[in-house]
Amino acid sequence: MKGKYTILITGGAGFIGSHVVRRFIKRYPDYQIINLDALTYAGNLANLKDIEATPQYLFVKGDVCDVALVQKLFADYAIDAVIHLAAESHVDRSILDPFAFARTNVMGTLTLLQAAKEFWAGSGAGNHLFYHVSTDEVYGSLEGDGFFTETTPYDPHSPYSASKASSDHFVRAYRDTYGLPVVISNCSNNYGPCQFPEKLIPLFIRNICQNKPLPVYGTGQNVRDWLYVEDHVQAIDLIFHRGRRGETYNIGGCNEWKNIDLVRLLVRITDRLLERASGSSDGLITFVTDRAGHDLRYAIDASKLTGALGWAPSLGFEEGLERTVRWYLDNQEWLEQVSSGAYRDYYEKVYGGRA
Ligand code: NAD
Ligand code: TYD
Repeated sequence: MKGKYTILITGGAGFIGSHVVRRFIKRYPDYQIINLDALTYAGNLANLKDIEATPQYLFVKGDVCDVALVQKLFADYAIDAVIHLAAESHVDRSILDPFAFARTNVMGTLTLLQAAKEFWAGSGAGNHLFYHVSTDEVYGSLEGDGFFTETTPYDPHSPYSASKASSDHFVRAYRDTYGLPVVISNCSNNYGPCQFPEKLIPLFIRNICQNKPLPVYGTGQNVRDWLYVEDHVQAIDLIFHRGRRGETYNIGGCNEWKNIDLVRLLVRITDRLLERASGSSDGLITFVTDRAGHDLRYAIDASKLTGALGWAPSLGFEEGLERTVRWYLDNQEWLEQVSSGAYRDYYEKVYGGRA
């Protein structure tokens, strides 16, 4: 007999995934949540310490490219829905090792799609959904004014965005060819607690604390649209429950910042919270060689989501940044462990043989 509605969340030990897992556990006690995560350098079970003992939650250490494991999870737990976040997610790493991005982001997504298609085939009017979490970077770079809408043609430039674009195409191909119930969301840059300190905001917070240089690529004129992670996760929740099957939704903060302006604001907030004199860390800002293929501007038109589901970002940027800086200052041990890789040795011992 079928038990609880069961959701397979992939990449749940990562930055955004851990916030998704926590929200779903806390808000929906009737769901069973299975978190499949390979615990790469970016995955950290310490992100989920507060909910790990919840009976409705199960962690499985494993790779989304492992066909046998993914098939077994569908069969053993009668998976009803997937929220797919597992990915290689850092553009700079994708420039160094594009194959890792093709493997996880493309082949991993394909492995999950195929398992869902096979397992859900002939299962009647089940309430199934394959929710694919993607990025605004698939749309490429905006040179002037204007915004990405859901119909903007794909034009990825980095190996990361190319791999995410490819995964989005596979998701739509499974919708159109096999009738798989899917939904995709493409979100702008996230920030907030538990983000790995290789991305701009957490890296710079750490470096300000440690009086290390803040390497701004190029002249710092590139523009990103920043969204607090909890607001992204609230949108995912809404789309998961009320989004139309087969559709794509853009998610964005309506909050564009040139990198250099953001960095100056971040320096000001962090200095204040560290009780340093204003301007103390300005000298850490260092302009370095630009990133290869660096997209100039991302900006999202989220009016479809806002209009259809009434979503809007809840947090102002300064407030969100302050909350984020405070979290990193209060969680120095997390930062230290993540930076040293020590947590991975620990969890390898604890979860090593369990899949
Ligand atoms: P992250 O790098 O913090 O976490 C990725 C997680 O996936 C980690 O826990 C990692 O261990 C896991 N993982 C990696 N390869 C795996 C594999 N082969 N099998 C199983 N697990 C694997 O990433 P994030 O920033 O939380 O992003 C999550 C998703 O959201 C990604 O799909 C990303 O493309 C998308 N996204 C991110 C942002 C952003 O600003 N961070 C914006 C829009 C969309
Ligand atoms: P990042 O956080 O890597 O996100 P993404 O590349 O997915 O947008 O970078 C955000 C912006 O900050 C991007 O324009 C690149 C820039 N950047 C720097 O200038 N210096 C850095 O050390 C990093 C990591 C990013």
